[in-house]
Amino acid sequence: MDKKKISMAVVRRLPKYQRYLKELMVNDVDRISSKELSEKIGFTASQIRQDLNCFGDFGQQGYGYNVKDLYNKICEILGLNREYSTIIIGAGNIGQAVANYMNFDKLGFKLTGIFDINPKLIGLKIRDIEIMDTDYLDKFLKESKVDIAILCVPKNSAQRITNVLIDGGVQGLWNFAPVDLVVPENIIVENVHLSESLLTISYLMNRR
Ligand code: NAI
Repeated sequence: MDKKKISMAVVRRLPKYQRYLKELMVNDVDRISSKELSEKIGFTASQIRQDLNCFGDFGQQGYGYNVKDLYNKICEILGLNREYSTIIIGAGNIGQAVANYMNFDKLGFKLTGIFDINPKLIGLKIRDIEIMDTDYLDKFLKESKVDIAILCVPKNSAQRITNVLIDGGVQGLWNFAPVDLVVPENIIVENVHLSESLLTISYLMNRR
């Protein structure tokens, strides 16, 4: 696949295309025009054509897009044509909620380990996966290849754990801790801050 640089704005729209196309496939829709897709998805038809043109020539004049082909292509672009070994660090409120959410598995993010320091949690199981002692993390990373770690620990331990994860070969971090992690350039960090969405709501409500 062509690895030319795509703007983050386009990248951030891709999961929405993936989700809507999946829905169309489930509803047995074979093809769709950019105009129809635009009505469903909320981006303009020209935006959709521009976005998809970044990755190749998908649509056909007068035919539109073949839903299955486009869905498969977007999955491939999103890297969903492989499996990712994923672990969770911190099995508190957020960690347990993420661990219990089955859909990540369906997308190929296979949960292979959960770690915590709390002796009351160590040994318990979430979806058949035993919560392990974080002291064992280093050894676990040496023995099993882990692609992505989901960080659900308090902010004061997030950087220390991050360093262990990176030393152990983890390349992607889904960070829930409210801290800006310092990582080498080749490591991907995606921060999730629910409060930022909430503040956007309060801003928009008060601007009316
Ligand atoms: P929690 O206190 O319920 O869970 C934290 C868990 O991390 C505990 O089970 C604790 O034993 C464990 N832990 C502490 N140090 C550890 C270490 N060194 N290694 C492994 N496990 C360790 O907290 P909660 O509510 O689940 O929040 C987790 C993190 O997410 C916190 O940093 C919190 O500030 C943040 N948070 C983020 C939100 C977001 O939108 N991104 C929303 C709410 C909380």
